[in-house]
Amino acid sequence: MTTAIIGKPLSRVDGRQKVTGQATYAAEFDQPNQAYAAVVRSTVAAGRIASIETAESEQAPGIIAVLTHHNAPKLAYAPHKGFTDPVVGERLHVLQDDRVNHQGQPVALVVADTLEQAGHAATLVRVTYAPETGTTDVTRVEPVLPTQQKTDQGSTQPPETRRGDHEKALAGAEVNVDETYVIPRENHNPIEMHATIAAWEGDHLTLWDKSQWVHGVADEIGAVFGIPAENIHVVSPFVGGAFGSALRTWPHVTLAALGARAAGRPVKLMLSRREMYYGVGYRPHTVQRVALGASRDGRLTAILHDGYEETSNYEEFSEALLSASQFLHSCPNVFTRHRIAPMNVHTPTYMRAPGEASGVFALEAAMDELAVALNIDPVELRLRNEPEQDEFKNLPFSSRSTRECYRLAAGRFGWDRRSPEPRSMRDGRLLIGWGMATATYPMNFAPASAMARLLPDGTAEVASAASDMGPGTWTSMTQVAAEALGLPIEQVKFSLGDSRLPKTPPHGGSMTMASVGSAVQAACRKAREDALARGGANDLAAAMRRIGQAVEATADSAPGDASKRFSMHSFGAVFTEVAVDPDLGETRVRRIVGAYGAGRIVNPKTARSQCVGGMIGGIGMALMEHSIVDARNGRVPNANFAEYAVPVHADAPPVMDVIFAEEHDPHVNPLGVKGLGEIAMVGVAPAITNAIFHATGKRIRELPVTPDKLL
Ligand code: MOS
Repeated sequence: MTTAIIGKPLSRVDGRQKVTGQATYAAEFDQPNQAYAAVVRSTVAAGRIASIETAESEQAPGIIAVLTHHNAPKLAYAPHKGFTDPVVGERLHVLQDDRVNHQGQPVALVVADTLEQAGHAATLVRVTYAPETGTTDVTRVEPVLPTQQKTDQGSTQPPETRRGDHEKALAGAEVNVDETYVIPRENHNPIEMHATIAAWEGDHLTLWDKSQWVHGVADEIGAVFGIPAENIHVVSPFVGGAFGSALRTWPHVTLAALGARAAGRPVKLMLSRREMYYGVGYRPHTVQRVALGASRDGRLTAILHDGYEETSNYEEFSEALLSASQFLHSCPNVFTRHRIAPMNVHTPTYMRAPGEASGVFALEAAMDELAVALNIDPVELRLRNEPEQDEFKNLPFSSRSTRECYRLAAGRFGWDRRSPEPRSMRDGRLLIGWGMATATYPMNFAPASAMARLLPDGTAEVASAASDMGPGTWTSMTQVAAEALGLPIEQVKFSLGDSRLPKTPPHGGSMTMASVGSAVQAACRKAREDALARGGANDLAAAMRRIGQAVEATADSAPGDASKRFSMHSFGAVFTEVAVDPDLGETRVRRIVGAYGAGRIVNPKTARSQCVGGMIGGIGMALMEHSIVDARNGRVPNANFAEYAVPVHADAPPVMDVIFAEEHDPHVNPLGVKGLGEIAMVGVAPAITNAIFHATGKRIRELPVTPDKLL
């Protein structure tokens, strides 16, 4: 009997495959007789296609098919809303009519024998437009209330929430802060580009696709083509990063399938880096006003958090932008208002720590401004407003380790040596700043299934359709399975990333371990119990030898009703040190220390890597990332890795300390995990901008804090 595999810092079970090039990503599943597709994209943001000439393209070498709205088959586009789709609105329909809704929208598909031939022929398609005045300037669009506001766990709430009387409390407050914070559009930019290989056999379709949710792809493409989802086999074992961009099924997957049908051959469609800015979502531009009222002794009396974000004019994307303000700090009078700015852009989507990363930036930057106005230490201010329970839901927290996280992270950081005055700490000519912020992310949990099969040789195969876009699902699930089966980890083979495996929710929202992990644990326990009972032995190996054939069990996990009794979130605290060059305006992050209360930690090594990744993502958000949108036409002039800056190794600080507060939360799910993927991104950007204020005395409220803003 092997125990305590959960909690061990094991190296990745798929690590060797990845570093030796043996891991196969979507675009690498080349098929016999495969053709290649290239997309022709709109060069206007709004209007109609006036004419589209394909004759020249059709005569180009190697050409197999050129599809436009004139000759593309009419698709079913049956009503269908997946978990990750906006609740309100209708997905973009490709090549179905002459309407143009956004810059870069697909207007034609070219299929040819080779990639080069497809790319060349795509340049020969001549399109003219009857342009219309579109809305592409986010600074000039009037935000409106959405039909409904989607929050965490796919639920909805009214776009306005209130408790108490925030107006009266703000007017009567002894100390006020009232500022507006802007975060520009950001793109996910995973290293691996989105790619799909599509192959039809009759009315059965196989898709090798970059996906965080293989069953979501099957359901979506089934609805688009009007065929049963069961006819669609989606294969996606390895994902080279995604950060949310592969949670939905985007139009290029439909195009790959359309191309394969037209060609009568398998077709590969891989997006270029540039195309990744025009069709797989992005973190929307947000504008947030935060007004805080407090008493002189540092008690919050009012919070107003009023935010809006860009969306497309065909879908109302919304995310949990304001949720944290409803419960993170104790406050009797709270008002939140969420609005959307519909524009001629393609629909944004979830990007790492969607909602919380943006919303908590504004809230925690405002809290720092309040701490300065009150002349109270920022940690002390938060401690004075630590709530006893979730004051929005009126429920106790299932667990909440904020106090412990402040203590652990501040201690490791050496916060007590901070001199509070801005510009008071230096290293030679560099200005040193120390800043902090609180982090939170919900414990999400959605139904999942898993299968465990014990074999006579004493090994086991365990499977679930989950994805592993990088966090280490493969490894952590193998650990959960091995512990539940009572087998050494080497004797357990876990499979994922295939729609023929048991169903899972999207691999996002930090819910994979809670959801899939609970199902894997249940299936493995069941298989073990069945085997021991049938084999009439207390020893699994002996039982399996005696049975002489496979013993298989499947199990489902389901959230139950804990969310009716508890408010369930991970919490954390992030501390950063920055050095700002007063002459160049350049900010370098020197240290980040984060402490997290995230329930049980299944694998401290991959968990730490998650947090380090989130910290680096937070550096990008604070200092670098910005998808520039040309206000005239919706073009993204920096749609490439040369001009869209992301942190590289040289930008990562030498010190990134990750501390896990010990938590035993029996309420959240059978494994006691609260999710870790997203919280690591939350709180980093405000901790950095708060540190920049401490270093320089300059409060920059519009991200990213590039050198020009500090000069
Ligand atoms: Mo994460 S944005 O839920 O992939």
